[in-house]
Amino acid sequence: MRKKVTVVGAGNVGATVAQRIAEKELADVFLTDIVEGLPQGKALDLQEAAPIEKHDTRLVGANSYEGSKGSDIVIVTAGVPRKPGMSRTDLLGTNAKIVRSVVEQVAPLSPDAVLIIVSNPLDAMCHVALEASGFPKNRVIGMAGVLDSARFRAFIAMELNVSVENTHAFVLGGHGDTMVPLPRYSTVAGIPVSELISRERLDAIVDRTRFGGAEIVDLLKTGSAYYAPASAVKEMAEAILKDKKKILPCAAYLEGEYGIHDLFFGVPVKLGSKGIEQIIEVRLTEEERAALERSAAEVRSTVNELKKV
Ligand code: APR
Repeated sequence: MRKKVTVVGAGNVGATVAQRIAEKELADVFLTDIVEGLPQGKALDLQEAAPIEKHDTRLVGANSYEGSKGSDIVIVTAGVPRKPGMSRTDLLGTNAKIVRSVVEQVAPLSPDAVLIIVSNPLDAMCHVALEASGFPKNRVIGMAGVLDSARFRAFIAMELNVSVENTHAFVLGGHGDTMVPLPRYSTVAGIPVSELISRERLDAIVDRTRFGGAEIVDLLKTGSAYYAPASAVKEMAEAILKDKKKILPCAAYLEGEYGIHDLFFGVPVKLGSKGIEQIIEVRLTEEERAALERSAAEVRSTVNELKKV
């Protein structure tokens, strides 16, 4: 049977995710948005590119949810993006209401789906989605770490003038400025990155990774990044649809792992057809653990803000 992915929000991230999934023929795509004509227009435009891109993916757009029925994955990108000067947390009130209403409508139609959350502030929106869906924790996953580590890898490759394919990077923590890129677990062709890049340069790369989202917002001025976020979502969706058992950094609901309780937080997980099939725990130095705890405290304070909206 053909697989089906629903993408909620046909804006920059949603439409680009639809394009990436269609072009890889990972699944048929149902695109939905509240703006009249937008998902229909983008789905049709992408369908008309199919003969040239050589894929047989079916794309359908609508302003309702009926067509999403029986999806294997539902990707939630609905919400407002950041503008210059805004932090992800500034989106909390608006996006919490949007994500709640979207998930309440979409989850009953696809009770076995895996939810991938993209809307920001990411970790808090995952809490909203977990509660609104009633899904088990392994089927509610936040996209952040794959994007953050892709940024880290891109900067490492640029620094060393090597193929991005040689790079592996490791990022833990919340999807915010306190995220914890871990150079100790990051490698180039298996060589620890600290052997190849000076401490000073590495610190600068780690910093650029941390503020990678803001760097794009400042350049675009009217919205936030979408090409790399869409690629990150596509990689997660592919691991789930193909039951690849791929280890990727994602926001997962922690119940004691890494000493963190009842919080969505970025950690390495094994992704397969059931969603999160395992949370991988690695040993941390004292300094890394302290950074992780700072990040967890920040995420927790944003989640607590949710109770006020
Ligand atoms: N139901 C469905 N779609 C909605 C709803 C809703 N209740 N509310 C808003 N949307 C749609 C908007 O109409 C818009 O088309 O969500 C889409 C968001 O698209 P963009 O404004 O282009 O934003 P984008 O860059 O795609 O970012 C979406 O992902 O990375 C995060 O921080 C980012 O929270 C933001 C989200």
